[in-house]
Amino acid sequence: MTKRGKLLLVGNWKMNLGPAAAHEIASQLAGYPFNHDEVEVWITPPATSIPVALQAVSERPVVKVGSQNVHWAASGAFTGEISPSFLKELGCSFAIVGHSERRAIFGESDEMVAKRMSGSLSAGLDTILCIGETAEERETGATNDVISKQLGSAFSALPEVLTSRLVVAYEPVWAIGTGKVASNEDIVDAHSLIRELCKSRLPDTEVAILYGGSVNPDNFGTISKLENVDGALVGGASIKFDQFARLIDICKADG
Ligand code: PGA
Repeated sequence: MTKRGKLLLVGNWKMNLGPAAAHEIASQLAGYPFNHDEVEVWITPPATSIPVALQAVSERPVVKVGSQNVHWAASGAFTGEISPSFLKELGCSFAIVGHSERRAIFGESDEMVAKRMSGSLSAGLDTILCIGETAEERETGATNDVISKQLGSAFSALPEVLTSRLVVAYEPVWAIGTGKVASNEDIVDAHSLIRELCKSRLPDTEVAILYGGSVNPDNFGTISKLENVDGALVGGASIKFDQFARLIDICKADG
């Protein structure tokens, strides 16, 4: 995807918005004026709210619904996990893997994230792979190494043929939910490294690269125009309809 292509805006609701609230906000989004040529809008409700969100957007499937995480196997003895085939059966079109909260709080390793990504892509789900450095890693100058290692590990598990879309989200861990946003220069540096690594591993594939970390309507107008930024993965500002709608408007103006 080139920079001036349409932007991809993904709302990561995390463990917020139960079925009733999810239905309300998904319905508002389904009724919000934008078209698919201007901006892509994806949302990830908590697993228990996915069915109602799908139902709310069913009249206007231009809003895509996905999962915040996914297992690699189609079924089996994996208590508490989410099957990629069951997500497909429900009507989900994508999944996120490797979010830093999964890595930090639930101990998911690069290897596990790579397996999840592989299983998700193989099941035909578009897949958002999250990567990014911690504050300590940035302070010690390890940002590029962390990006290369996390991406390299995931790339080693890529299916031979990609039949669904791979998206990479660069989310510096210290910027998530903190109100601290990476500087424009840091975003451009990280995204150009990611672009380079994607191009060398997947020369014929367009991989969208999203920025995530305290994105809001006040900062996204600038971030969305930066080199190699194809959209955003948004947490806090995605669970308030007014704010998310303003982000959609910024994408429309930019697209
Ligand atoms: P935030 O979360 O926008 O609240 O910083 C982003 C994310 O965790 O994907």
